[in-house]
Amino acid sequence: MSIINKAAAIGGGVIGAGWVARLLLNGIDVSIFDPDPEASRKVSEVMKGARRAYKQMVPDGLPKEGKLTFAKTIAEAVADADFIQESVPERLDLKHRVLAEIDLYAPANAIVGSSTSGIKPTDMQVAMKKHPERLVVGHPFNPVYLLPLVEIVGGEQTFPEAIEVAKEIYASIGMKPVVIRKEIEAFVGDRLLEAAWREALWLIKDGICTVEELDDIMRYGFGLRWAQMGMFQVYRVAGGEAGMRHFMAQFGPCLKWPWTKLMDVPEFNDELVDLIATQSDDQAHGLSIRELEKIRDDNLVAIMDALSKQNKGKGWGAGALHKDYTRQLAKLAAKKPTASKAAEKAKASKPVKKVEKPKKKKKG
Ligand SMILES: NC(=O)c1ccc[n+]([C@@H]2O[C@H](COP(=O)([O-])OP(=O)(O)OC[C@H]3O[C@@H](n4cnc5c(N)ncnc54)[C@H](O)[C@@H]3O)[C@@H](O)[C@H]2O)c1
Repeated sequence: MSIINKAAAIGGGVIGAGWVARLLLNGIDVSIFDPDPEASRKVSEVMKGARRAYKQMVPDGLPKEGKLTFAKTIAEAVADADFIQESVPERLDLKHRVLAEIDLYAPANAIVGSSTSGIKPTDMQVAMKKHPERLVVGHPFNPVYLLPLVEIVGGEQTFPEAIEVAKEIYASIGMKPVVIRKEIEAFVGDRLLEAAWREALWLIKDGICTVEELDDIMRYGFGLRWAQMGMFQVYRVAGGEAGMRHFMAQFGPCLKWPWTKLMDVPEFNDELVDLIATQSDDQAHGLSIRELEKIRDDNLVAIMDALSKQNKGKGWGAGALHKDYTRQLAKLAAKKPTASKAAEKAKASKPVKKVEKPKKKKKG
């Protein structure tokens, strides 16, 4: 059950709305601030999709949804929140402005998570003059209401206790927090994605394959392996009975051959954008983004559900977590507590308020 009493979302675009959906569907009240006049419509579109997906996950009834309030200012949104997730566009100057304001008006003990895809928390928390120690990066993956991973990264000023509380908070809403051991730009997930994306752009630009063929190579091949075992365990098995050592001996030397474009980035000009966008339009066969989102969500729920039945019924990987999460939601739905009562009870026994003076500062 969640340890969050009241949450605030700053920014309600693709990612912010995904956070709002996950929180509301866990019965948590959320106050959101987004200056876009279209924000309410966009959030409600995402909510529709999320409800639809969660109904497949928990067919016997979902928990009572939390209440969503649109605030007129950041100050109003964060005033009584104990968990705040910032999801504004990826610009350092904007992150600074927004985080400074959150810091000024949020309760001193509130945890502040940033959805940034790659900016180091140390570079963001300099703007927080009151309590920079409670900022963590909480980097999610789209769609936030379905994909469980959240990378947690602390900056030079982040207290270790804040990381611990953040871990508990994200886990309480069905997520898999992974704490990144050293602060680097783009963390781990986006480092890998950027390398793959850069190589993919070259392959399209050089006419080796189309975007559809590249996606087929992933989804009919190694993409299926990655979803269930990741990279290293898959390679361990690929080494045959001799396992990882044999795999390393066999394929390690190939890394020295000039197979990839390595750090070269193709020139990001109109020609490249047109090439990719046109091929992507062809690949979509007229399906709208919302229609593709539904297909994506159905597929993700089906994959996690299938994995939840593996390993003699205990579930495997994301499937094991999915099993626990859907049970947690069903239990919450059966109890039908009011969100605030449930949260108050949980809060009394959980250390959300324990971000106090550290004994030792985390080293960057
Ligand atoms: N899109 C992804 O796949 C993805 C994945 C993980 C993390 N992220 C990160 O999440 C963050 C948001 O990305 P997004 O894709 O949701 O962008 P987006 O453009 O879809 O949404 C950003 C939202 O922030 C709002 N906004 C702008 N200024 C604001 C302000 N001063 N206060 C409050 N809201 C404001 C905009 O109106 C918009 O609705 C970025 O840091 C991004 O790197 C994105």
